[in-house]
Amino acid sequence: MYRKILIANWKMNGNSESLKSLADYYVNMLTGQQAEIVLCPAHPYFSLVNDIIKESNINLGAQNLSSFPKGSYTGEVSGEMLADIGCKYVIIGHSERRKFFNEQGEEIARKIDLAAQNNLIPVLCIGEELNKRQDGSYLNFIKEQIETSGILTQKNAVIAYEPVWSIGTGVIPKSDEIAEVVNMISTMSKAKILYGGSVGGENSRQIADINNLDGFLVGAASLRTEEFYAIYKNLLS
Ligand code: PGA
Repeated sequence: MYRKILIANWKMNGNSESLKSLADYYVNMLTGQQAEIVLCPAHPYFSLVNDIIKESNINLGAQNLSSFPKGSYTGEVSGEMLADIGCKYVIIGHSERRKFFNEQGEEIARKIDLAAQNNLIPVLCIGEELNKRQDGSYLNFIKEQIETSGILTQKNAVIAYEPVWSIGTGVIPKSDEIAEVVNMISTMSKAKILYGGSVGGENSRQIADINNLDGFLVGAASLRTEEFYAIYKNLLS
């Protein structure tokens, strides 16, 4: 694994045509890269993206996995299946899954465990809501999210600090606010640490300088080729 990591979370966006052209562009622009690049398309587009990236050192990631290992769970996709089709990473506990699908501690811990059992690298998302930032309880809250997830016992893991109030809003914490959380995570864990939440071409320059920060988890800007490329450049500069 390279030292720096850049993950594109395409969420439930795109179609065959647009995702093919994104993947083509990233393979052309980022081949020979000195960073771990991970593209996370929605499940129906895994094979399309995988075919494009397979000769490059860009990696495939999933946005979620089932908390069950296998069997009669209609609509679910298991860690074993993700590993089978060539996924290397899996995002777990994203705030949108916590909010819209009510994912919580125990279920997230089961997912981390199943990811590890299938040799997938878990990317655990943690982060506070705005009210916890305002009432000052955010550090304890984040600490508990990390401790209850089981990620601390995993050797190969990534933790993404994504303050809920910054995701998709264009609002970015100050660098020292991100640094405070990154610093706390680095004292708890040897996992790679990412920042996510409205990362763009401009703001990534300053955030990339934060001590102990290993990269970014990028949503909206990862669907815009030039902006994602600018983020990549800032991460490596
Ligand atoms: P955003 O999303 O970059 O669009 O804020 C980040 C994320 O949801 O991981």
